[in-house]
Amino acid sequence: MQRDIRNKYKRISKVQLKKLRRKRWRATFIFSIRVMLVMTVLMGCVPFFVFGKELAGSSASGPASEIIASPTETDPNQETEPIHTIPETKQETETASDKQEQLESAAPTEAPQDGEAKKQPSFIDPSKPMIAFTFDDGPYTKVDGRILNVLENHGGRATFFVVGSRVGDYKETLKRIYDSGSEIGNHTYSHKNLQKLDAGSIVSQVEATNDAVEAVIGQRPKLVRVPYGAYRGQVSDAVRYPMIQWNVDTRDWESKNKDAVLNSILSNAKDGNIILMHDLYPSTAEAFEEAIPLLIERGFQLVTVSELYASKGIPLEAGNVYFNVK
Ligand code: NI
Repeated sequence: MQRDIRNKYKRISKVQLKKLRRKRWRATFIFSIRVMLVMTVLMGCVPFFVFGKELAGSSASGPASEIIASPTETDPNQETEPIHTIPETKQETETASDKQEQLESAAPTEAPQDGEAKKQPSFIDPSKPMIAFTFDDGPYTKVDGRILNVLENHGGRATFFVVGSRVGDYKETLKRIYDSGSEIGNHTYSHKNLQKLDAGSIVSQVEATNDAVEAVIGQRPKLVRVPYGAYRGQVSDAVRYPMIQWNVDTRDWESKNKDAVLNSILSNAKDGNIILMHDLYPSTAEAFEEAIPLLIERGFQLVTVSELYASKGIPLEAGNVYFNVK
């Protein structure tokens, strides 16, 4: 009997021992798994502690990543590449790659005058030929800087029809355009075909751009260039500004070829012409740099659109469309 009990206890204790060992082993196993999990989480977080938001931005994908990655203003040397490039007649993707921006040269400030340009021209001779160059889809420092250098070196001006959504990223460039006496026009806020929008949306596309420009230079543009030249339908009623078209299309966005653009400019240089170009392409700046000294030599005056019409004595009226002065 006694022996039986002892045996029984022995047997039980062996079973219990096994159970105990099994329990311990399981506890150790679970503990190590937990430790590994905690370590993994901590390791995963380290880069975020080190790199912060930048990492979150660069690792994201899709449209949101573009928003995170898109630079903000303030430093003109870090301005964005062109966001779109929707040329006047055909959709196209922007391929500008050179990120080197030109340094802004701040022009001396003067008290703003009423009107389209800060500095009024010293003198425009109505008896001499004049051309109004127009640049759409900017601002864009890299190209505008070169265009403005040429204009300033030759005492000329041009008209820059800016896209409202870009203005905040190119404040310094916008100021420089204005300070140099060139004219800033309105190319709508997000470069949509206005013929496809209702009247309310057209008004807000135009006014939001004027608001954006006014916030930077303190003046509202007086002229509108509708995207794609689409002024028909209800557009002329909804756009309460003169709509400026062109009669010479260099198709610079299409060729992106300096010689082609240069040839177009030189062969169409005629008194009263309005020439369409886009300040998004280095080839456009190159062509302009070569063309301007030649045009000056030929006796042309480089004027803004408002100056062109004022010099010819033609009033610019809201809702009307203008192509050139004959
Ligand atoms: Ni455009």
